[in-house]
Amino acid sequence: MIVLKPLREAPNDPEIQTAAAILLAGGVVAFPTETVYGLGACFDQPEAVRKIYLAKGRPSDNPLIALIAGLNQLELLVREWPPLAAKIAAAFWPGPLTMVLPKVSTVPDEVTAGLDTVAVRMPAHPLALALITATGTPLVAPSANRSGRPSPTSAEHVAGDLGDNIDAVLDGGISDVGLESTVIGIGEDHIVIFRPGAVTREMIQSVSGSRFAIEYAEQSVAPPSPGMKYAHYSPEAKVYLVMSAGSAGAKLAELADELALKGEKVGVLAHDDTLAGISLGLTRLSLGSREDLRFAAHMLYAQLRLADHAGLTVLLVEAVDDSGVGMALMNRLRKAACKIIEE
Ligand code: TXA
Ligand code: MG
Repeated sequence: MIVLKPLREAPNDPEIQTAAAILLAGGVVAFPTETVYGLGACFDQPEAVRKIYLAKGRPSDNPLIALIAGLNQLELLVREWPPLAAKIAAAFWPGPLTMVLPKVSTVPDEVTAGLDTVAVRMPAHPLALALITATGTPLVAPSANRSGRPSPTSAEHVAGDLGDNIDAVLDGGISDVGLESTVIGIGEDHIVIFRPGAVTREMIQSVSGSRFAIEYAEQSVAPPSPGMKYAHYSPEAKVYLVMSAGSAGAKLAELADELALKGEKVGVLAHDDTLAGISLGLTRLSLGSREDLRFAAHMLYAQLRLADHAGLTVLLVEAVDDSGVGMALMNRLRKAACKIIEE
């Protein structure tokens, strides 16, 4: 794998030109987006798209997201563009929101895992937009992690997971948002949230108006979005999600000491006020202040990877407030957890 560090975020930058040439020749290149790093291939090259599944170890029935640099590229992907989709795109693109829409028949089955729909997003990261513009074609880009691992928010994370399996990574520093995009489906009179993200339910409702009901697709029903059924986001350490940390995190602190006494190498990932009460000998990883969940989202995956770096066997994670972007954080934490401690 080669590391490309563009000096300018423009399509004619030499490093971006190199990345585009690799992609057009059928290679796979990881690149930054504002959510997480993606592993890209040209959407219309089925061989290259298959390389993505191989490199990630991704189940073949889990479809990919196609990234575009302008609305003019929609016609290559989607068959229908309802007024509600246009309204939502105007509000949130470029940005961390993906829409699932009926696909045109020329989108390869490798992209959509045989579904009749395709997931589309216009990312807000200038390097991602420059790369798509340089190739002149939409790029498919799932998160650039080994399947099941936390998504990468830096080029180093990508190298650690996929270094031997991909052609190149464009290094653009640390992803701003830190969690994958919100994925929604557009119905006649409703919107389904397949995956919560930084564009929150409240933000979508304020654009759609109250005429459109917003449903949250729960995991219990047959998953309408294939990605919902897979284990995700897990570090090597066992993750225990602690639903109520007790006053000033007292219960969490007690639990951490108990596990340490049993010989576990324990770490705690929590808000700063809770961390203040955790024994000094334990690894303490911050989710920032309770008032700033966007910071917690920005940090989450890097902290999960640090848990591995520290060689932890158990990571106790403090549950966060479930509203706004907290809904996305809790979605990822529930999936990463092997045990949920209710009280
Ligand atoms: O933020 C993001 O979206 C990142 C950046 C790189 O763009 N990409 C990303 O891709 O998170 P991935 O592959 O890790 O997640 C794609 C999600 C999966 O849960 C998948 O099941 C769902 O989107 N998806 C893709 N196509 C779909 C479709 N046609 N219908 C329903 N869900 C779909
Ligand atoms: Mg992923």
